[in-house]
Amino acid sequence: MYDDTHRPRLRSRLRGFYDLDREERREVLRRETQCSAYELAALCGRSGLGLTPGQADRMVESCVGIFGLPLGVGTNLRVDGRDRLVPMAVEEPSVVAGLSHGARLLRAGAGISTHADPPRMIGQLQLLEVTDPSGVQRVLRVHEAELLSRANALDPALLAAGGGARSLEVRLLAPIEADDPLGTMVVVHLIVDVRDAMGANAVNTMVEGIAPRIASLTGGRVLLRILSNLADRRRVTARGRVGLRRLGRGDPQVGRAVAEGIEEACRFAERDPYRAATHNKGIMNGIDAVLVATGQDWRAVEAGAHAYAARSGRYTALSRWRVDREGRGLCGEITLPLPVGTVGGAARSHPAVDPAIHRLLGVEGAASLARVIAACGLAQNLAALRALATEGIQRGHMELHARKAERLGRAFAEVGD
Ligand code: MEV
Repeated sequence: MYDDTHRPRLRSRLRGFYDLDREERREVLRRETQCSAYELAALCGRSGLGLTPGQADRMVESCVGIFGLPLGVGTNLRVDGRDRLVPMAVEEPSVVAGLSHGARLLRAGAGISTHADPPRMIGQLQLLEVTDPSGVQRVLRVHEAELLSRANALDPALLAAGGGARSLEVRLLAPIEADDPLGTMVVVHLIVDVRDAMGANAVNTMVEGIAPRIASLTGGRVLLRILSNLADRRRVTARGRVGLRRLGRGDPQVGRAVAEGIEEACRFAERDPYRAATHNKGIMNGIDAVLVATGQDWRAVEAGAHAYAARSGRYTALSRWRVDREGRGLCGEITLPLPVGTVGGAARSHPAVDPAIHRLLGVEGAASLARVIAACGLAQNLAALRALATEGIQRGHMELHARKAERLGRAFAEVGD
C-alpha cells in the first residue's frame, strides 16, 4: 500500500465549475490535476482514446460495442485534510450536484475524516459430511501454519507486496429448516490481506488451492470455494460535521431546524427497513458513481454494503446523523465494507481508470481510494437528507432539469451549426 502524502495537492473548491461549458471544464481539470493531454482525452473518452472496441472485446465475452455513461466531476470534497476531485459515472441527474453540495457543507477544517481497516478479505470453504464438526477447529488450528503457507505459495506476487493469507477461522452453521438433510455445516474462512487489489482473484485461487488439503484433514467434502462479498474485515468509516450557521445558509436558527430535521429523517431510516433501503440507495448514488468511474466491481460493494446494513438481523441505515451535544453542529458518520482495488481488474484494461484514480482523485492505493469513496457516500447522504428534510428533492431536481434542458437546447444548436 502506498502513501499519497507526497503527491502534489490539487484544489477541489472550484468556484463556478458547474457553470462552465464542457471544454472549459476540461481545461480546468488540465490545470488543476497533473493530467497529460493523453490522460485527459482517455478520461473524457475523446477521439478514440477512451475504451476502444478492441479493448472492450478483450474485457467481456460476446462483446458487440461500448455502452456510454455521462462522466461528471464532483467538487469541494476534502478528506483527511486533502482536496479530491471526484470522477462520477452516473445516469441520474442531481447526483454530481448533490455530492458537490454535501462536500461543500462538510469541508470546513480538515473536511471529512476517515479510518480504514487493513485490506483483509474473506474466502469461504463449505465443508459437508464432516463426522465431527466441532473437532474441525482443533484440526485446523494444528495445521493452520501449513495451510497458510500452501495458500501463500499460490500468490508470490501478493506475498512480495506484503500481503498474503493471515488466518483460518471455523464457523458452524446449524440447519434453519427442520427437514434440512445436511445437519451442521462447517464453513472455513480464509482471511487474506490483499493489499491494493480488490482481491477476488487472489482469494479464489487460494481457497480453491487449499480445498483438497482441508478435505483430507477434516474428512469432509468441500463444495463451494469462493470469496465472501460481506467484506466486514475491510470496513471504512467516514465522519464529518457541519456547523449550524453553514447548514442554515448563515442563519444558525434555520441551521438548527435543518439539523434536527436531518437527525429525525435519519432516525426514520434507522428504525424502518423500507426507509433504510432508500436512505442507503442515496448513499450508494455517490459511492457507485465513483466505483464505476474508477473501474471497480460495484456489484461486490453493493452486495457487501446491504449485507452489512442487515448485520444485526434487521436492515438499517448505513449512516447516522445527530445534532451534537452542545447543539452547535450536525455530526454524521458512515461505516461500510469497501473492497476496492487500484491494481488488476479494470485498472489494467480501461484507459480512463488510471487518470480517474491517480489524477482526479489523486489517490495512491486501495485504502486511500476506499476512504475517499466512503466520504463520498457521507456527503451524498447529507445532500439528500438536507433536501428531503427541507424543500423536498423535487424542487432541486426540477431546477437541474431546467438547466439541463437549456444546455440540451444549446447542444442541439451546436450540432445544427
Ligand atoms: C434518489 O436517487 C435518492 C434519494 O431517494 C435518497 C434518499 O431518499 O435519502 C433522494
